[in-house]
Amino acid sequence: MKGTTGKRRVLTVCLAALVVGASMAGVGWAATQEPSAPGFVWKDGAEVYAKVCAFCHEAKVGPTIRGRGLDPTYITFMVRHGNRAMPSFRAAEIDDESLAKVAEYVSKAAANQ
Ligand code: HEC
Repeated sequence: MKGTTGKRRVLTVCLAALVVGASMAGVGWAATQEPSAPGFVWKDGAEVYAKVCAFCHEAKVGPTIRGRGLDPTYITFMVRHGNRAMPSFRAAEIDDESLAKVAEYVSKAAANQ
C-alpha cells in the first residue's frame, strides 16, 4: 500500500513539472514571436515644437523663439541644459534626432506660422 501511494505522488509531481515546463516553454515561444514594440518617435520638428515648446513659447511664459533665426546649436544647448525658467529635456524626453529637427525648425520657422 505504502509503495503505491509513493509512486502516485512521484507521478503527480512529474506531471505537474511537465505542465509547468510546457507552459513556460509556451511563454518563451510567445515572447520571441512578438514583434518588439516600436519606441515612440516624434514625427518632425514642428510636432515637437507644437507639443512641447509651444506650451510655454506660444503662451508668453517663454520668449518668442521662432522667427529670430536663432542658431540651432544654441537652441539644442538650451533644450538639453535649460536656463533659469527654461527647463532642460533629457534624451528620454526628446531624442537627439528629434532635437536636431526641432532646433532646425525653430531656427528657420517664421514667428507666427
Ligand atoms: C515650461 C515652459 C517651457 C517649455 C516647455 C520650453 N521652454 Fe524654452 N524657455 C522657457 C522660458 C521661461 C525661457 C526663458 C528663460 C530665461 O531667460 O529665464 C526659455 C528660453 C528658451 C530659449 C532661449 C531664448 C532666448 O531668447 O535666448 C530657447 C532657445 C528655448 N527656450 C527653446 C525651447 C525649445 C526648443 C523648447 C521645446 C523643446 C522649449 N524651449 C520648451 C520656457 C519653456
